[in-house]
Amino acid sequence: MSHDRVAIVTGAFGGMGRAFASRLLADGWRVGLLDLQRAIDAAGADIPDPARSLAIHCDVADWPNVEAAVAAVRERFGRVDAVINGAGIVDNVASIAKMDPGRWAWELGVNLSGPFHLIKATAPAMAEAGWGRIVTISSQAATTGLRYQPAYCASKAGLLGLMRAVVAEYGHKGITYNTLLPGLIATPKVLGMPSEILERAVESIPAGRPGSVEEMAAAAAFLLSDAAAFINGASIDIAGGRNVPISDLTRQKRK
Ligand SMILES: NC(=O)c1ccc[n+]([C@@H]2O[C@H](COP(=O)([O-])OP(=O)(O)OC[C@H]3O[C@@H](n4cnc5c(N)ncnc54)[C@H](O)[C@@H]3O)[C@@H](O)[C@H]2O)c1
Repeated sequence: MSHDRVAIVTGAFGGMGRAFASRLLADGWRVGLLDLQRAIDAAGADIPDPARSLAIHCDVADWPNVEAAVAAVRERFGRVDAVINGAGIVDNVASIAKMDPGRWAWELGVNLSGPFHLIKATAPAMAEAGWGRIVTISSQAATTGLRYQPAYCASKAGLLGLMRAVVAEYGHKGITYNTLLPGLIATPKVLGMPSEILERAVESIPAGRPGSVEEMAAAAAFLLSDAAAFINGASIDIAGGRNVPISDLTRQKRK
């Protein structure tokens, strides 16, 4: 599939981010790969399809950093038509009493301000062009409580409010903004969890397995397509049914 469009993926060298980037490249997009980790070796060996992608070291929590990264993608590819906000912190774990306010603010900065910075840097030009796509990766934690992850829950729920504000401002300008709420997805980090914790987590998923990063990428790629033009402001659970409240009795009967 060949077209002119350009996307930015944040967290592009993470478990899901790599799948987003590969899928978009396979779908004909040119892609700016923004990430904090320097997963790129000096020879650029870790960059998929260097002719059609550009890897940039970028802290999404830092506005000047994001402004510069988006400018670099525009300079290389001429435009930005879509953003997948995948960068996120998942390991800032502490009880509320012990949560350091600085770490709370840092997580909110990455998980919530990060997507805001990307939208601020790209939506005005998308609106001018009359076409744009934004997909943000939230979490099931946006709607359920996780003990010891207050900043994660708050930031992922905040992304739903951000989406509504963006749709209200840009929905009539050809831009769609949708949010994916993944459950357990089999990234290298998740697969590296202690096996008894992983098994317990899988037990609670009606599908009986974690999702794959390719399934996440397929959903994001569809939302970026022309075919998804009428889907706007949707929050989509990708959780193998874990999002459905199932009675304890039913759970017991299934065993
Ligand atoms: N894996 C899951 O089961 C799961 C479930 C629900 C939600 N999520 C969400 O999906 C998204 C992707 O998660 P993942 O599992 O691929 O995690 P991951 O840790 O493998 O990848 C996250 C990437 O974000 C990058 N990053 C972190 N801070 C950054 C910053 N300040 N600026 C730029 N990049 C930064 C990291 O370097 C990493 O490459 C995250 O937003 C996460 O909260 C994941």
